Amino acid sequence: MKSLKDVELTNKSVGLRVDLNVPIDNGEIVSSDRLSAVLPTIIFILEKTENLCLISHLGRPKEGHFDESLSLDPIRIWFEKRLNRNISLINSIDKVNKGLNILENIRFFEGESSNSDNLANLLANKFDIYVMEAFATAHRKSASTYGAILQAKESCAGLLFHQEVHKLNLALSMTKPLISIVGGSKVSTKLAVLKNLLDKSKKVLVGGGIANTFLKAAGFDIGNSIYEESMLSICEKMLNTDKVILPERVIISESPSSGESFFVDVSDVRSEMMILDLEFKKESISFVNHMFIWNGPLGIFEIDIFSKGTRDLVKFLEEIQGEVIAGGGETIYAINKFSNQKKFSYVSTAGGAFIEFISGKKLPSVVALGVK
Ligand code: 3PG
Repeated sequence: MKSLKDVELTNKSVGLRVDLNVPIDNGEIVSSDRLSAVLPTIIFILEKTENLCLISHLGRPKEGHFDESLSLDPIRIWFEKRLNRNISLINSIDKVNKGLNILENIRFFEGESSNSDNLANLLANKFDIYVMEAFATAHRKSASTYGAILQAKESCAGLLFHQEVHKLNLALSMTKPLISIVGGSKVSTKLAVLKNLLDKSKKVLVGGGIANTFLKAAGFDIGNSIYEESMLSICEKMLNTDKVILPERVIISESPSSGESFFVDVSDVRSEMMILDLEFKKESISFVNHMFIWNGPLGIFEIDIFSKGTRDLVKFLEEIQGEVIAGGGETIYAINKFSNQKKFSYVSTAGGAFIEFISGKKLPSVVALGVK
């Protein structure tokens, strides 16, 4: 995969596909982490050429329609302030000018999601170099994240994209023993992740609703807890690997909204109760000089009385001696809530793309960059 550092940028025109898909409320940017993450790349390019156009999606608008609430204008203003220079927002690829431009939400354009040759061609032919920097969108086979990479005269991975792929490959390449932590609500949606990580890890600690299904498969009475009947036999097989770490103490309640919780042994869950959080047993994954991958919360951490498992895990991972790679939408949210991303060795900017990558799937943008 060719990196931005390998290409000659001087005075070239550059199209930079970034992921600027950030939460915006009433025109105000709620979290700017993804914007800050691509600033070094933008600055790197601007040191070599003035002609740069940022390309991104925002939200999921109806293709072919302009939707003001999903315009990139608030993001343009954010970058203008950070870079201290004027940025033009343009609504057509033909209008790309010299200087620094930002193309309006690429999902307003007909053919983006279907990876139309026409749109991919327009993007590819407009620039001397097409740089793919949007790792968080690398799992979408769309015109700007796949077709344009293939059709461009020259294309390469941006600095952040390169780093994301490198860090995740490092964790999965098993140069060091790997400990995985997989939380979240359903085994079925994380099945590929669980299978791939079980294959590559020394131990896999499970949490959230996923842990409920494993506990049920292991023969525990989990009362009224939510679990997936159809996943029980798969969980049984996974338990036979002897790598799955189950909770020993859990936090139960009659319902997420009852306002009351009890801390009990996993074998003492009463029939009218639900498991909504767990005690995370540090000793079970306290290995020095290991790699750690974390995706998914251990309980309903948004509600204070069910946040202990996730909060303790964040603290543990902050302090452990070993490389920690975390990613996924809820995981990033939990880290921001209980800690600071800077305290982690690596927090991916990606949600869905992170999950697909750690499940062993080939991401379309990575495939396209590999071909170029
Ligand atoms: C994300 O936030 O995960 C990426 O920007 C991809 O967004 P999407 O799920 O709407 O394709």
